[in-house]
Amino acid sequence: MTERKKAKKVILIVSFGTSYREAEESCITPVENRVASVFGDYDVRRAFTSGIIIRKLGGEGRVIQMPIDAVRTIADEGFTHVIVQPLLFMKGHEFNNKIVNPLTALQNSFAGFVIGDPLMCSRDDFQQMEDIIAVRKASVGNEPVLLMGHGTDHPSNRVYQKLQIRLDKENRDIFIATVEGSPGLDDVVPILLKRGIKRIHLFPLMLVAGDHARNDMAGDNEDSWRSVLERLGIEAIPHVRGMGESVLLQKLVIQHIRTCQGMLFPG
Ligand code: CO
Repeated sequence: MTERKKAKKVILIVSFGTSYREAEESCITPVENRVASVFGDYDVRRAFTSGIIIRKLGGEGRVIQMPIDAVRTIADEGFTHVIVQPLLFMKGHEFNNKIVNPLTALQNSFAGFVIGDPLMCSRDDFQQMEDIIAVRKASVGNEPVLLMGHGTDHPSNRVYQKLQIRLDKENRDIFIATVEGSPGLDDVVPILLKRGIKRIHLFPLMLVAGDHARNDMAGDNEDSWRSVLERLGIEAIPHVRGMGESVLLQKLVIQHIRTCQGMLFPG
């Protein structure tokens, strides 16, 4: 028997998580289903990195594990080969503190153990992100688009600027701002005004459309991006749709897992 045939294999899909059932069903479950259909000889499992969301769902009687607990369960069940694929976008705090650091200690429990890269790391990733964004822009008649990234105080926040530079080369009227990092909306507003933009479509540059997309982007509150832009005379049309809905994003996840599979089973 070859090693590959004896192997008991699992893919653990890790996202920050969401407590919005609708966001989970439109942006996380379809990614997992797609992975399960492409990698038929692997079990597919889920973990969330957000303790707050896990506790909230726990209160509703739903059990979702942190990556460390999910991998312990996987070890207990006798799996031999593990791929951990984050649906995070960058190598920031969540990736380092909830995935890489805790899981590295457990990797010797398995014959093979690989952690995939987040979704905005390689040149191919950025190309794919541009394509995903282009599809969204086409879906709104190619009118200007403002993307809401999450943003972080971690140096990985630079991915937003990197993506913006690439988008600017294509001259597409696509702008990126973040909720918790830089650039913020305040940095982008002067550019929109200078360009004379009167109408813009807002999309989350995030896996799911959760609190940030619903409240900070599209909300009725006076400091939501929609309200701020409207006060400046820019008609803002929010689209509360996470990127996990995108078939191209699902394809990107599949590519990352293929890379991991190549590392687990070289040749
Ligand atoms: Co946040």
